[in-house]
Amino acid sequence: MKAFLSVRFLSVFAIAVSRTISSVSNGTCASLLVDDFASQSRLTFLFYNAMLQPSSDDGTMAPIVGRADTATSVIVSNNHLTLTSVSDRTSYWYTMLGCTSATDIYGGIGMTIKAPKGTTMTIELQTSQTCSTDSPTLTDLDSTILGWNFDGTEQYYTIPFSRFQGLDTDHLLSLLLSGISKPITLGPIGFYCGVSGTAYPVPSTVPVLEPTSTIPATTGPSAFLIDTFGNANSNNLGFYHGGDDAATYKLSKDRMAINMKGNSDLSWYTQVSDNCSDFTMNNDGYLHIAYTGSDAFTIAMQQHNPACDPNKNPWPYTWDSVEASRYSNTDKTDIYVPISHFEIDYTKTIGFALKGFYTTVPTVFLKIEIVHTVPSGFLVPSKLSTAPLLFACTRPNSFAFAIDDGDPQFAQQVISTIAAAGIHVTFFTVGAPLLDQSTNLTNVYKSMLAAGHQVAYHSYTHPPMEGLPSLAAIDWELNNDISAVSQTLGVTSKYFRPPFGTEGARIRQRLAASIPGAKFVEWSVDVQDWLWAQSSTPENQIKSFQNDVDKGGNLVVMHYLYNTTVSYLPQFIDIARKTGKQLMRVDQCMEDPDAPPL
Ligand SMILES: *[C@@H]1O[C@H](CO)[C@@H](O)[C@H](O)[C@H]1NC(C)=O
Ligand SMILES: *[C@@H]1O[C@H](CO)[C@@H](O)[C@H](O)[C@H]1NC(C)=O
Ligand SMILES: *[C@@H]1O[C@H](CO)[C@@H](O)[C@H](O)[C@H]1NC(C)=O
Ligand SMILES: *[C@@H]1O[C@H](CO)[C@@H](O)[C@H](O)[C@H]1NC(C)=O
Repeated sequence: MKAFLSVRFLSVFAIAVSRTISSVSNGTCASLLVDDFASQSRLTFLFYNAMLQPSSDDGTMAPIVGRADTATSVIVSNNHLTLTSVSDRTSYWYTMLGCTSATDIYGGIGMTIKAPKGTTMTIELQTSQTCSTDSPTLTDLDSTILGWNFDGTEQYYTIPFSRFQGLDTDHLLSLLLSGISKPITLGPIGFYCGVSGTAYPVPSTVPVLEPTSTIPATTGPSAFLIDTFGNANSNNLGFYHGGDDAATYKLSKDRMAINMKGNSDLSWYTQVSDNCSDFTMNNDGYLHIAYTGSDAFTIAMQQHNPACDPNKNPWPYTWDSVEASRYSNTDKTDIYVPISHFEIDYTKTIGFALKGFYTTVPTVFLKIEIVHTVPSGFLVPSKLSTAPLLFACTRPNSFAFAIDDGDPQFAQQVISTIAAAGIHVTFFTVGAPLLDQSTNLTNVYKSMLAAGHQVAYHSYTHPPMEGLPSLAAIDWELNNDISAVSQTLGVTSKYFRPPFGTEGARIRQRLAASIPGAKFVEWSVDVQDWLWAQSSTPENQIKSFQNDVDKGGNLVVMHYLYNTTVSYLPQFIDIARKTGKQLMRVDQCMEDPDAPPL
């Protein structure tokens, strides 16, 4: 018997009413999907199932092997969930059922399970006459009593309600799995009609097809080496090379191995100058990278800020990104990217970055250089459009507050602070919580829109988008956010802010393909709420804000997740006003012709 896990995971998005997201009909009754494990972040960041009901583990599952952080083995992949309990089997996982009434409709809950021979677990159903989670009635059955015999293959298993004595099938609150003796992998879970049911189909993903046309190779300038990785902190040109603080890479014997362990947020850089350098004469050339291993990463060419001053924000000012895999030869040994495929201001070139690594397979880099021809037979792919990467407002003397997702309990305070200041701002909103009526966020953003603020996209479940395994998974996040915003708020937008700021070629390409004219909005003023809000020095948020403003930053990132951040908002606004700049929405500060007049 387990007590119900209540507030630990559910503080942000409380329990919603029952909702049917998707169903499969048998003619007279439609089976009801509980979860299809469509998204890791929906389950382990927002803590929702497909019904937008709370779902989570208890936080004690075994650590993921090979990961240095504390991430635990609750792994969503290909519409399946793999759970690995700690060895004493005390970990548990639950999914809430929306107090569904199953009487005379559903015979039970079914799911596919793949588990090693001899695996056992306890299946618990929780009910409550009042639909309250305070003191539910718990009924447990052991998997062996249900006759579940595992053999290492994926099979369909059912939890017939008739097997649970005295079960209140009018008020099904949640399903909880505990005492899991070996790692198990669950397929989609659903209520089934009748007595037996069939496995809920795994949703089929349509692969995203991208253009495969090629362009003829041209002749460019003479070759020069940029990096053969012989020195620790500088490249062959004598300029800086190195990685982000948490980047995991190793230089040895004139090569460099990078394995960012699937953390798509980390980059490694090699510069062609320590100031603005004019790369225009290389426009007809190619960036050549000799490598072995994974080509699942992004190559970016970086541009300095207009003042060519590294002490001004933003630095770099922007960059353009291409997918390494599209430009690799079939032997996966050489990448050739036409410099002209990087759409930046070449007169302000800083250098190149290797980033957006989205698998855990390492890449070994042997050489980075500029060449003027490609080997015969090498086909250069067509350039795919990338949504422009924006860190700064372009309108002279403008300043924009762009506020990301938050905790519904602070929403009213944000609304009244902004109203009192008489400014217009932009909200980047996550889609799934909008559909959960208990968050009240739909009403919050409707009132923001009515007050003249801009509402734009921030993904559906808040994953690091470039880290997602496939283009289809990226599209799922974008399309569901677009439809959640239009369904609840009746608006569309061209503006997207990436969760965690994570950038790479694939997300920018898919954004440009989904929304013509889309803009990919980062920031140049960070209150660093994620770092300071819960520390003993939350006032450092004000210092961070002031520092970035002093360096010329004019585009804010903040959330309304913490009391301190929200209570400092009037001070942030004061600091911004003291610059003499005009405060406005992001579309206005980007001189968007479709933005409302100032
Ligand atoms: C469809 O569902 C109804 C209602 O639960 C059930 O009586 C019937 O047997 C089911 N039919 C099939 C073909 O599964
Ligand atoms: C960088 O270039 C700019 C513009 O050419 C120049 O004004 C500035 O002095 C240079 N900075 C350094 C440190 O050389
Ligand atoms: C929901 O949000 C609206 C709009 O801001 C507000 O008027 C209302 O009071 C909120 N309701 C709750 C229960 O917080
Ligand atoms: C938020 O902070 C203010 C002052 O900093 C305090 O008075 C208030 O109680 C806090 N609210 C919450 C919900 O913690």
